[in-house]
Amino acid sequence: MNPFIISGYKSPEYFCDRQAETLKIMDAIENSRNVTLVSFRRLGKTGLLRHVEHKIGSKMPFLYIDLYPTLELQDFINLFSNSIIHGLEPLTDRVIRKVTAFFSALRPRFSFDPQTGSPSIEINIADRGEANMTIHLLFDYIRQSGRKVTVAFDEFQQILEYPEKNVEALLRTEIQTNTESCFIFSGSQTHMLLSMFNEYSRPFYQSSEILELGKIKKDEYATFISEFFSRFNKDLSVAVAEYIYDINGGITFNVQYTCNKLFSSGIDKIEERDAIKMLDKILEENEIIYYNYRELLTKLQFQLLRAIAKEDKVEKPYSERFVQKYKLGAASSVRSAIDVLKGKGMLMEDQGLRVTDRFFSLWLKKQI
Ligand SMILES: Nc1ncnc2c1ncn2[C@@H]1O[C@H](COP(=O)(O)OP(=O)(O)O)[C@@H](O)[C@H]1O
Ligand SMILES: [Mg+2]
Repeated sequence: MNPFIISGYKSPEYFCDRQAETLKIMDAIENSRNVTLVSFRRLGKTGLLRHVEHKIGSKMPFLYIDLYPTLELQDFINLFSNSIIHGLEPLTDRVIRKVTAFFSALRPRFSFDPQTGSPSIEINIADRGEANMTIHLLFDYIRQSGRKVTVAFDEFQQILEYPEKNVEALLRTEIQTNTESCFIFSGSQTHMLLSMFNEYSRPFYQSSEILELGKIKKDEYATFISEFFSRFNKDLSVAVAEYIYDINGGITFNVQYTCNKLFSSGIDKIEERDAIKMLDKILEENEIIYYNYRELLTKLQFQLLRAIAKEDKVEKPYSERFVQKYKLGAASSVRSAIDVLKGKGMLMEDQGLRVTDRFFSLWLKKQI
């Protein structure tokens, strides 16, 4: 198997470092403090949550809920309710009866996956009143379990996109009364999440401790990479691993992906030039996506992304020097293009403005 995991989580063996962060989260869980975990995309938040879940093992229930695909409160309820009924205890007939009785006012329906036989619950909400009651009962169900439960909401800022109003306040009220449990709010929209928790006027103000996930340290990561290659009788020196880290800006996903491809390349002794070639190959494989991006963006948005990629990062994107060098036109149009691209998640702040997708950035850099 390839030791460089590029989706999901396997086990601690394939997980690099994050010891301090894991301890911090474990400590918060033990002491029933809530945690907000933020970083930009693909640095390893989801991986870290899975790692914590693995560490906790069967000691207490850990409910992981990825809110990224949810668009409205009904979606939230579907995911949350299923996570609760599966996560707290084995779903025997007796428990199904208990759940049915508990939620009877909401007419829950169980269906069974024809392939696996696994049950899932469906609670259809007719109006906002029912939605509120459902949410209340779901949190109540956790409370009545009498167990300490950890609930991790991944991509939590997604609740701000729901068409329903005041979801933030509704959840805050419920979470506040579940004092035994620990809630983790994780997300990539750092700015949106931080303002939820740091602004005085917002329901979640100062209700949790903030953990900003940084990049994995270069020396730790390079050693981790190099050791895996040698364990499989391949050679990739720490120096080459550091080169791979640097060129990928230390972004976990991109480092993992590059190493995964190099591992399966059939080359036994990997030098810097092999890494360069492999990156070219990755960019080529993705090219169709990048051309597609270009189709979807305005000319200025694309030019701006390319200009930022060529500089690697830009601290003063409105400066005359930058705007003139890349012939971007009026600073005001640059400003609105930046806002749009940030909104789409294509640009981010990391000690200056950068193109979020590291591979896309490397590809743009090569465009004339
Ligand atoms: N500490 C780690 N060691 C090795 N791989 C990791 C680590 N953290 C994350 N990954 C991998 O990096 C990729 C991106 O991580 P992910 O957790 O999905 O990021 P995020 O949730 O911040 O967007 C995933 O493929 C994941 O398996
Ligand atoms: Mg994630």
